[in-house]
Amino acid sequence: MKQVQQATSVTETFELLKARLRDMVPEAELFVKAELVYEINRIKKEKNAVILGHNYMEPALYHGIPDYVGDSLGLSRIAATSTADRIVFCGVRFMAETAKILNPGRMVLLPAKVAGCSLAASITAEDVRRLKQRYPGVPVVTYINTYADVKAETDICCTSSNAVDIVNQLDSDVVICLPDEFLAKNVARETGKKVIMPDEAMKSIAPKDSMIVWNGKCEVHEKFTVEDIRSVRSQFPDTVVLAHPECPPEVVEASDYSGSTTAMVDFVAESSASRFLLLTECSMSDNIAAENPQKEMLGLCSIRCPHMNEITLEDTLICLQEDKYQIELDEDVRLKAKKSLDRMLEMSK
Ligand code: 13P
Ligand code: SF4
Repeated sequence: MKQVQQATSVTETFELLKARLRDMVPEAELFVKAELVYEINRIKKEKNAVILGHNYMEPALYHGIPDYVGDSLGLSRIAATSTADRIVFCGVRFMAETAKILNPGRMVLLPAKVAGCSLAASITAEDVRRLKQRYPGVPVVTYINTYADVKAETDICCTSSNAVDIVNQLDSDVVICLPDEFLAKNVARETGKKVIMPDEAMKSIAPKDSMIVWNGKCEVHEKFTVEDIRSVRSQFPDTVVLAHPECPPEVVEASDYSGSTTAMVDFVAESSASRFLLLTECSMSDNIAAENPQKEMLGLCSIRCPHMNEITLEDTLICLQEDKYQIELDEDVRLKAKKSLDRMLEMSK
């Protein structure tokens, strides 16, 4: 988990940001950002808060205010053990909910009223209950991109970085894997399971070695195509293509590497190649470029996550000043949801 260096004055903050972002943000803009970053970090200390930043945050936020940056799994681990009075989650709602589920004694704050996710919105707790009634005893593996009531109906959570490993550890011929159809199909391919869509699963009986999936999609990753990869490779033949496992299976297959957001960050840092195409939210390409100036990052930036982009420096400042928006959960739901997250953390040490 990466810890971020922080400054003690606006000028020092500006210099730190400039060192990282001088090639992508004009100085006039950087100075405005530096003032916000400095003030956020000052109040953060005063209020004994910790800021967790997902890899998709915009560059000045990502490089300026989080104490830790990372993917869903890494940030969950930090959230679970934090002793700060406040955990400010610069990510989307399901991530902040996960922090509250794991560490209920802390005030957990999300700097946006909604900050949803198309995957989390694709399934309800009732949908999961119906599948469980049809398949009693079959393990339900649910992607962390879900809300607390769905996690409460789940046996084990997973993230993009441990899904294959978790399914491989289950001693069961049939597994229910929800709600991301593409992530599940990518996992099914790697674990040798046959995919069964929800309608078929409700009408017939899932065969041996199968995975019952849901039809949720990430509204960002579903838009990347094999044609995008072909087109970029024909223009820049030496491009190394990285795809998040929420991309369609044919896109993942046509790529050179697939992994969680942090796995992609690490891959670029460790690779000897010099040009990369990232098929994921495009802020991440900027964040990687800032840390690896000798590498060229290509991004398809007309495809953005509107939910992650709700989190801004301006709103994070208000969030800390006014302690809003606080995450509150029903205690019964929280306790049930925690079991599925605890199991995931135990199974992915
Ligand atoms: P990671 O767990 O890989 O960071 O993914 C979270 C996410 O929402 C990707 O769209
Ligand atoms: Fe959800 Fe997709 Fe946005 Fe990630 S990128 S938060 S999966 S909508």
